[in-house]
Amino acid sequence: MTEKAQPMKPHGLAAWNERLRALKNIPPLLHMVWEAGPSVVFWGAAARIASGIIPVASLDVMRVIIDDIENLLNRKQALPHTFWWLVVLAFALAAIGTLFSRVIDYSNTVLADRYMRYISVRVMEHASQLDLALYEDPEFYDKLERARVQATDRLATIQMMGQLLEQFITTVTLAGSILFYSPWLLLILIVCVIPALLGESHYAFLNYSLNFRQATTRRQLDYLRLLGASKESAKELKLFGLGGFLSAQYKKLSDELHAQNVSLARRKLLATSFLTLLGTAGYYATYAIVIYRTILGQYSIGTLTFLAGAIAGASTNIQTLFNTFSGIADQALFLNDLLEFFKVQPRVQSRPDALPAPRPIRQGFEFRNVSFAYPGTSRLVLEDLNFRLERGERIALIGENGQGKTTIVKLITRLYDPTDGQILLDGIDLREYDLEDLSREIGVIFQDFMRYEMTASENIGVGRIEERDDLLKIAEAARKSGAHQLIQELPDGYRQMLGRRFEGGVDLSGGQWQKIALARAYLRDAQVLILDEPTASLDARAEHDVFERFAELTRGKMALLISHRFSTVRMADRILVLENGKIIEEGSHHELMLLGGRYSQMFELQASSYR
Ligand SMILES: Nc1ncnc2c1ncn2[C@@H]1O[C@H](COP(=O)(O)OP(=O)(O)O)[C@@H](O)[C@H]1O
Ligand SMILES: [Mg+2]
Repeated sequence: MTEKAQPMKPHGLAAWNERLRALKNIPPLLHMVWEAGPSVVFWGAAARIASGIIPVASLDVMRVIIDDIENLLNRKQALPHTFWWLVVLAFALAAIGTLFSRVIDYSNTVLADRYMRYISVRVMEHASQLDLALYEDPEFYDKLERARVQATDRLATIQMMGQLLEQFITTVTLAGSILFYSPWLLLILIVCVIPALLGESHYAFLNYSLNFRQATTRRQLDYLRLLGASKESAKELKLFGLGGFLSAQYKKLSDELHAQNVSLARRKLLATSFLTLLGTAGYYATYAIVIYRTILGQYSIGTLTFLAGAIAGASTNIQTLFNTFSGIADQALFLNDLLEFFKVQPRVQSRPDALPAPRPIRQGFEFRNVSFAYPGTSRLVLEDLNFRLERGERIALIGENGQGKTTIVKLITRLYDPTDGQILLDGIDLREYDLEDLSREIGVIFQDFMRYEMTASENIGVGRIEERDDLLKIAEAARKSGAHQLIQELPDGYRQMLGRRFEGGVDLSGGQWQKIALARAYLRDAQVLILDEPTASLDARAEHDVFERFAELTRGKMALLISHRFSTVRMADRILVLENGKIIEEGSHHELMLLGGRYSQMFELQASSYR
């Protein structure tokens, strides 16, 4: 894991260091931009550089033209024979300038698009590799959210880098030409501009730290907005009359944010106004010097025009250059989260020399002294757990809510690794196997399975993504799970869009969704099938059917089924009773009933409620 995000000190030296250190994010950003579209970057940069030179070139052409005219009028010197070509050149420079600005515009648009796509894909790809545990950690979630926003919000940075290049070229050429006439002019100009620049960047930093502190509140706002307008919450909101409460809450929080933002903006306005005035004073001081020297006869009229233009250009360009730079530094701070997110590595990973998963499995799984606590918690959900899932065996796991049944499934599928002890597959630690390969051999339907807002066939196809187009296999899986019939009755059959998100979508009942989810597991062609109370929203009779089917289809295969209902559990070859993180009883239904322990107690309890 990366270090924890520290709330930053908004004032003092630490703040400056933070800004400077953020500049180290620029090379990776440049790298990403380059990767996103090398040729666009190249041509964009070339156009920027050419555009950057144009101001000084135009001014110089203008200087020569004016001096020629002056010589003609005041000194009666003939115009040089190249004079009209100079006028043409002035026009050509202006024309090239506008042309290049179009090219830059174009490259910005294309690059923005490429970059967005590139970053979004990278964020998705990286996120998909990370541990499940991370998603359950609110701090990581903040980071992921910020990274997501940064992925799309950093477009401005790229354009700014282009601007920076252009402004830099312009500034250097203009400043160089001023320096050529008088170093003092340049010095005064720079000294007066610097305070404004520092003030500007200071406030940019304050803005960042404010944003950072507001992240949690923003997340709350997002959640409130989601609650206020989502399909899932609408029923309860209406019945409980929560609408007004939520919007009041939203208003209160967003007012807080607004007040903070305005307060900072106001402070910035006061401070930077003064500093900017200072910069303007510096500009006019140098201007006055140039005028004075022209009156003394030290500069020609052409030079006066040139210097006036160069001073004006340099002064605005130094400022905008610094603004752009500090804008980039500021944006670079925002990149921290994105780059840190990319650095987060999954802990549950395949070894470099990982073994392929055994096919066929010869011995089965064994939990050996497995203890487990969820990351960041100390309570052992599973404690010194020992059991086997033998080859060809179907076992049922039974236990009350919160005893750790789902956790066991997460361990078998390596969504988590045990805190202590080992899980063996064919006598070898699970961690030795290639993760993807292992996943392929295990088909799981979790309690909270996904309802993909995709077509019916895609909903099943995701179970084995490389075969998502094989309609025959999909239909076969659907037949096994009992979904085939219900899908055929949909208006568009297997092509029917499910869910309400997209137009023309049809929503299914909980039980119907379950059958679809089940078909996913059947499509998987895995050696081990796991059903984790996937039948919670089915009635007892439908659940019985599902499990009966399951028992039949998994005959001779390995299966783990988890259920509350004893009627279904009986179908398993062996039953494990889980309590307080341990297996307290184990055996067939008969054996456990004879034992007269916890299982028979629970069985009696449930049976009596049906009588
Ligand atoms: N991501 C998690 N982080 C922390 N604790 C968790 C997490 N998931 C589950 N738990 C806790 O672990 C225990 C076992 O949960 P679970 O395996 O889901 O139980 P079951 O499936 O038997 O109902 C519960 O006390 C639950 O609160
Ligand atoms: Mg569970």
